Amino acid sequence: GKAGYDHFMQKEINEQPRSLRQGLSERVDELAGEVDIGDLAYLNPRGVQLVACGTSYHAALYGAALFREAGVPAQAFLAHEYASAPPPVGDDLVIGVTQSGETADTLSALRAARSKGATTLAVTNVVGSTAARECDHVFYIKAGPEIGVAATKTFASQLTALNLLATGMVPTKDDRESIAALRDLPADVQEVLDDSSAEAVAEEYLDSDAYFFLGRGLQYPVALEGALKMKEITYKHAEGFAAGELKHGPLALVTANTPVFALVTGDGEQARKTIGNVKEVEARDAPVVAVTDGQSDVERYADHVLTVPESSPRTAAVLSNVQLQLAAYHTAAKLGRSIDKPRNLAKSVTVE
Ligand code: F6R
Repeated sequence: GKAGYDHFMQKEINEQPRSLRQGLSERVDELAGEVDIGDLAYLNPRGVQLVACGTSYHAALYGAALFREAGVPAQAFLAHEYASAPPPVGDDLVIGVTQSGETADTLSALRAARSKGATTLAVTNVVGSTAARECDHVFYIKAGPEIGVAATKTFASQLTALNLLATGMVPTKDDRESIAALRDLPADVQEVLDDSSAEAVAEEYLDSDAYFFLGRGLQYPVALEGALKMKEITYKHAEGFAAGELKHGPLALVTANTPVFALVTGDGEQARKTIGNVKEVEARDAPVVAVTDGQSDVERYADHVLTVPESSPRTAAVLSNVQLQLAAYHTAAKLGRSIDKPRNLAKSVTVE
């Protein structure tokens, strides 16, 4: 059942500290500063291609960025595009990111990769799923069953699984910090859930024409995911943009009736650049909702702040996403939408 919640989606959002703890358990050795991903640590890929659809594609974008950060060429592909024109695979490892393990487009992409001789790895939630059976290797995200059509806890677990895989396959000098942040992640997510003011934000901007989401680097996939969640369950126009892309077109859409969610964590170059974009939307009178850990001065330009604890860049993405899940959920709830079964959508898309 829904364990006292109004919707499965709400239950699953609130379950994330537990589902993340489950996915991390026995996979993080903090004393050694290492993660344990079993034999997958020896795959030693020359390059990585990730294939996925929808929310899982956003996780794949994040995973590709992590491998690239570690010096391994990596790219995420929409599975349907990949399947219809497979790129050269060489010695690349091909990773299918699929919660259900049954998405037809993702299975087709993985089959295309295998037929070209690639080694394949399924990152999935479902034991014994088709992807798990057909791939050479499997890594379970261990999120537990997800009933809501809109993926929430499984996305957090996909990001975390890809973090573990990238760290385990390609160790880097930043691992200690990001492994410590992984240890703290379940408690940090709990803090976001306990303290979030996303419901007030949802209430204030209920009548908006559209919702925009801006992110850069590891926060770019989170911006895309925030928009997808918003459109799926509220039926409102929502778009996620790479923050740097704003002035190349999307800025034309920005008005006083289009709130902009800006993802700004840390105080580095990326934060500074995104704050530059925030000033641009502020100058067009758009309401700004900053999702931030307070390390930069983005609050000065924001109408609302959704706070996340300070963390590593990798885990900051997971934490920021929880605020966007809550913003979408509360907006849909106030609009009286069919949150667990949005119109026209199915949990698992088993036809191409
Ligand atoms: C969105 C959502 C979908 C799925 C997509 C892939 O909330 O759930 O976009 O992410 O259909 O599904 P899986 O991960 O099962 O391959």
